[in-house]
Amino acid sequence: MGKHKVLILHGPNLNLLGHREPEIYGYQTLADIDRLIKERASNLEVQVAAFQSNYEGQLIDRIQDARDNYDGILINPGALTHYSYGLRDALSAAELPLVEVHLSNIFAREEFRRHSVISPVASGVICGFGANSYLLGLEALLAVIKKR
Ligand code: DQA
Repeated sequence: MGKHKVLILHGPNLNLLGHREPEIYGYQTLADIDRLIKERASNLEVQVAAFQSNYEGQLIDRIQDARDNYDGILINPGALTHYSYGLRDALSAAELPLVEVHLSNIFAREEFRRHSVISPVASGVICGFGANSYLLGLEALLAVIKKR
């Protein structure tokens, strides 16, 4: 059996990490976070590819392509979390193990952030641990993939 392959997706505005509201999202840049994910992935012997886009359609294209090319998806959908039925439908159609992550604790913030339209199609959600949300999410996703 070859290595499992996981697609890491970062939604809108996550390219600004490190500069954007660092008191909420931290001082690590997206490149820092991708590096941490790749380090953990290599320890877990899983192959990862990471992609960020500010465009919902580009994320949806990647998800459609993932169906036959990856074993699972780890996604921080950014603000799309709260309203994108298009993203949700794409994730649902992919029929892959899915973990949703957020840097911040979305339940401790503004009212509109407390609802996710993505969570109902995810295996689970991890939020509130900064960059560590991604690392915990990767481990959780791998466990789901292996159990499948
Ligand atoms: C976020 C939380 C969202 O509400 C927000 O729109 C983001 C980042 C997080 O990682 O905490 O862009 O997904």
